Amino acid sequence: MDSERVVSGWKRLEDQDLELTLRPRTLDEYIGQEKVKKQMRLFITAAKQRGEALDHVLLYGPPGLGKTSLAYIIANEMGVGIRTTSGPAIERQGDLVAILTNLQPNDVLFIDEIHRLNRTVEEVLYPAMEEGVVDIIIGKGPGARSIRLELPPFTLVGATTRAGMLTGPLRDRFGVINRLEFYSKDELTVIVRRSARILGVEIDDKGAEEIAGRARGTPRVANRLLRRVRDYAQVKADNRITQEVAGEALALFDVDQYGLDHIDRKLLSTIVTVFNGGPVGVDAIAAAISEEASTIEDVYEPYLLQLGFLQRTNRGRVVTHLGYQYLGKPQPVGEPGKLFEA
Ligand SMILES: Nc1ncnc2c1ncn2[C@@H]1O[C@H](COP(=O)(O)OP(=O)(O)O)[C@@H](O)[C@H]1O
Ligand SMILES: [Mg+2]
Repeated sequence: MDSERVVSGWKRLEDQDLELTLRPRTLDEYIGQEKVKKQMRLFITAAKQRGEALDHVLLYGPPGLGKTSLAYIIANEMGVGIRTTSGPAIERQGDLVAILTNLQPNDVLFIDEIHRLNRTVEEVLYPAMEEGVVDIIIGKGPGARSIRLELPPFTLVGATTRAGMLTGPLRDRFGVINRLEFYSKDELTVIVRRSARILGVEIDDKGAEEIAGRARGTPRVANRLLRRVRDYAQVKADNRITQEVAGEALALFDVDQYGLDHIDRKLLSTIVTVFNGGPVGVDAIAAAISEEASTIEDVYEPYLLQLGFLQRTNRGRVVTHLGYQYLGKPQPVGEPGKLFEA
């Protein structure tokens, strides 16, 4: 299962304490995502000058890329409070109304997994985001009446791994929409060094690069790998992480040079052996490897696409020549245009 993999971007129990310690607090500490940071700096400065709440912000991208961290940083840089909840946690309209009416002026309301809000709850957000009001119904039956409550000005920060699953009306109400990108190896190296410093782990530059290169472009994975390698180094290598030590440890934990593990390999090789290299639909892949289609789409696929091992076409997924190379299998000849239909 994905949640059991050491290279999964989803948060696991073991990450909990570490993430609180390692989470960047300011935009300066937040490594990478330069375009997003530049924009956010500008909007935050402008909103602060006007003494207003920041516009509503939607953050999307695969798990572990820094959405929650950025939500907290936004509140911190604005100098306002933050209230955190998540789509599935809000069951009734009244729950959301209670949260909204209890905000302090200009506060951030962070809704994680916002694509999982149920529709009736979501409808409360429309007037709240647009006009700063909520309508509540008092009483029942013929005597029921609706009253309108003014809300304090606030900023909704929504996070999602699936921007495509957001409804149009909700999406349209965000003034700022930011997509987080996978991190470069250099950026991840900086993150690994910073985390090692905070944790008091001795690591040399090559050791940090080795971990960064296998972290699937994902800070959460980089930090988790660092911790695993630290354990290995403690037992086997005098507490010092070098390139060799990191390489040995990660091989032991089934993380290869690309950050892929046996499940990634299974996915790629299943497309090759069972589906002739593709194109094949995600549901068929899911059935063949006994995984959820949504997990494949959220977690495995984005990084395989990023590596260029897999390609998404309108007829389904296709293993590229790089993918074949990675598997050490010859790519079948014929249908040469197959890989390039968009
Ligand atoms: N830009 C960044 N710079 C440094 N560390 C980061 C950055 N983004 C994420 N991290 C690290 O990765 C961890 C997971 O990030 P998080 O914000 O929880 O991701 P998401 O909400 O997108 O799943 C954080 O606790 C932090 O340690
Ligand atoms: Mg998060």
